[in-house]
Amino acid sequence: MALTDWRSIHGETFSGKRALVTGGAGFIGSHLSEALVDLGAEVVVLDDLSGGDLVNFDSYRERAGGRLTVIEGTILDEATVTKAVDGCTWVFHQAAWGSVPRSVAMPRKYHEINTTGTLNILEGAKHAGVSRVMFAASSSAYGDTPTLPKVESMPVLPRSPYAANKVYGEAMMQAWALSYAQGDAGQAFDTACLRYFNIFGPRQNANSAYAAVIAAFAKALFVGEKPVIFGDGEQSRDFTFVDNAVQANLLAARHKDKLNGEVFNVACGERVTVNQLAEQMAKIIGRPELTPEHKPERAGDVKHSLADLERTRSTLGYEPLVPFEAGLEPTVQWYEGEMKG
Ligand SMILES: NC(=O)c1ccc[n+]([C@@H]2O[C@H](COP(=O)([O-])OP(=O)(O)OC[C@H]3O[C@@H](n4cnc5c(N)ncnc54)[C@H](O)[C@@H]3O)[C@@H](O)[C@H]2O)c1
Repeated sequence: MALTDWRSIHGETFSGKRALVTGGAGFIGSHLSEALVDLGAEVVVLDDLSGGDLVNFDSYRERAGGRLTVIEGTILDEATVTKAVDGCTWVFHQAAWGSVPRSVAMPRKYHEINTTGTLNILEGAKHAGVSRVMFAASSSAYGDTPTLPKVESMPVLPRSPYAANKVYGEAMMQAWALSYAQGDAGQAFDTACLRYFNIFGPRQNANSAYAAVIAAFAKALFVGEKPVIFGDGEQSRDFTFVDNAVQANLLAARHKDKLNGEVFNVACGERVTVNQLAEQMAKIIGRPELTPEHKPERAGDVKHSLADLERTRSTLGYEPLVPFEAGLEPTVQWYEGEMKG
């Protein structure tokens, strides 16, 4: 399903080594696991299936042979984490609860999963001999400042418990890398934070807050309805196809120098308006006459979001692999398949 030939980029770097993907049954985690499988790694997934689904392995479980182990369990259980992380060189920590409104309603639960869960992962990794933990951070750390593009050196402004969890996760990544240059097994221990911007692609739960607009447009267009846009549609996002997030993780994992929990934006660096998104999707689906219907703007919506990629480029050698338009087509096709059941 991936549009990217990972072997041609990363060769044998990951081959024969063990990696833990927490939240690997979810959207981004399942793509990361798939890339690692294709790169010859031994992949362990730890997921409690609270948001993910085992069907996300269907397209590559066979290809993985015996190199994919799925542990159905929670990052909140230290013994389970210890088992999952055993023998791993890398941890890609994707497990989290993700909805901003739900985090406002359930701040304690979010703290437990997203913050205490992250502590368990860091402690487990440090103990087990892991050399680097990659943390799924979020552009929500930037809050609603109008300044564009968003640069990692800008102050953080978490506006929800979820954003606060992610900012604290970054702080923990930094503190652990600086406090424990060596892990308990004597290994060099390091961390990196990847701030994802509106990641989209196949296998994204249509009910996910991140997928909201793409999923909602797909749902409308496939039944011959006009997509609904709140406001004038000129609000923009840095929509980022999932392969780009996978690539940023792989580059961070194989980086030679210590990263000390440094934060990196992960995006396309392209500004796509919601009007453009609706037009593109209608074109892909073959219903260009289904032009959007505009409704009043929703309070609290951030007008624009766009990442500066200078640090990610210069430190990690990152370049977006799949531009927005190229990623949109397979995504729309996937939603079509899902809707047909
Ligand atoms: N999708 C985006 O645009 C985006 C943007 C910013 C940050 N992120 C972060 O990226 C990560 C992956 O996001 P996603 O979009 O793939 O979401 P997702 O919900 O598809 O994946 C998260 C996975 O974590 C698992 N999980 C949740 N709680 C768990 C627990 N206690 N123990 C074990 N597993 C648990 C879920 O079952 C799910 O499979 C998350 O940390 C999210 O906060 C995503």
